[in-house]
Amino acid sequence: MSTYRIASIPGDGIGVDVTAEARKVLDRAASAFGFGLEWTEFDWSCERYAKTGTMMPEDGIETLRAFDSVLLGAVGFPGVPDHVSLWGLLIPVRRAFAQYVNLRPVRLLPGTRSVLEGRTAEDLEMVIVRENSEGEYSTLGGRHNAGRPDEFALQESVFTRTGVERIIRYAFELARTRSRRVCSATKSNGIIHTMPFWDEIFAEIAAQYPDVESEQMHIDALAARMVQRPDRLDVVVGSNLFGDILSDLAAAVTGGLGMAPSGNINPEGDHPSMFEAVHGSAPDIAGQGIANPVAQVLAAAMMLEQLGEKAAARAVNSAVETALADGSVLTPDLGGTATTAQLGSAIADAL
Ligand code: NAD
Ligand code: IPM
Ligand code: MN
Repeated sequence: MSTYRIASIPGDGIGVDVTAEARKVLDRAASAFGFGLEWTEFDWSCERYAKTGTMMPEDGIETLRAFDSVLLGAVGFPGVPDHVSLWGLLIPVRRAFAQYVNLRPVRLLPGTRSVLEGRTAEDLEMVIVRENSEGEYSTLGGRHNAGRPDEFALQESVFTRTGVERIIRYAFELARTRSRRVCSATKSNGIIHTMPFWDEIFAEIAAQYPDVESEQMHIDALAARMVQRPDRLDVVVGSNLFGDILSDLAAAVTGGLGMAPSGNINPEGDHPSMFEAVHGSAPDIAGQGIANPVAQVLAAAMMLEQLGEKAAARAVNSAVETALADGSVLTPDLGGTATTAQLGSAIADAL
């Protein structure tokens, strides 16, 4: 029997609640499909920061390295500035483990409704392939002339040929397993100087995949299309910031942030990958036990898939669909009155 070592970092706010449900569902899947999950839980969070002054211990990254995978809740909570919590935990893990692909599948699940009138599951089935290691999320820059009238903030975007090539190639390879269509999110009309470089590389790689239909769209127009005509979109590849924004948008058009999973993938498998929901710690509903756990459960299913437990991953996805289609146990964001734990249990029971 294979046993996988999983690091669980519930983190902050609703991250704690939804991670408990994902773990509940995965444990059930493990016993049903005959593999083991050995969990180690870490209290790395803003609460830890308040007590100790750091989000994670100094050797945190080294500690995680020993695991097969990482399940993360959410990072960030009022009281600790976001730049402190995020650069103190989330971003260092993504970078130390070369998780340069952020895979964010979005689809309309049975029993839930798109905010878009009349859209069906067939119209809404996309995957955002977000560059996850560089681009606009750079460390180059800072604030200058504090307190003076000429105060300013500066940040350099960094797009490397290696970084851009590997994410675009990943998108084309993925498209070959799906609809054979890739759309690149760009802003090449000369305003953002890094984008013509991105587009050039996109064109080079597209030429190597003549069997895959490719197109590029300006990010602003693409955002509108995602709402009005999402039908022909399938694999959407974008830079770190563009991919971030598009993934919340795509989540919203497929039923809300509570539904959208995310995988920070190290494709080479040299380091652990990390799975989380697209959403954050939702301070506005934290502590109420009403967060939708579906996104985190689907992220956990992505983790099973990546670990090679494909049948179990499919079963978890089906269990989510069964529980949602049944409709008797839905959280408030889906129009119901159930708690996080009740929906989590309904999914586990559907397995
Ligand atoms: P958010 O995603 O936490 O919340 C946005 C809105 O969506 C809120 O109204 C929230 O109640 C709702 N929502 C989100 N997830 C939900 C769920 N599962 N069920 C029901 N409703 C849900 O975004 P935010 O408010 O911009 O960020 C809050 C904090 O989380 C910030 O500190 C931010 O930096 C952090 N954050 C962390 C991650 C991460 O760890 N990967 C991702 C995004 C934001
Ligand atoms: C996400 C989040 C993070 C990001 C933030 C919290 C840094 O929004 O995972 O989508 O922008 O990568
Ligand atoms: Mn985001």
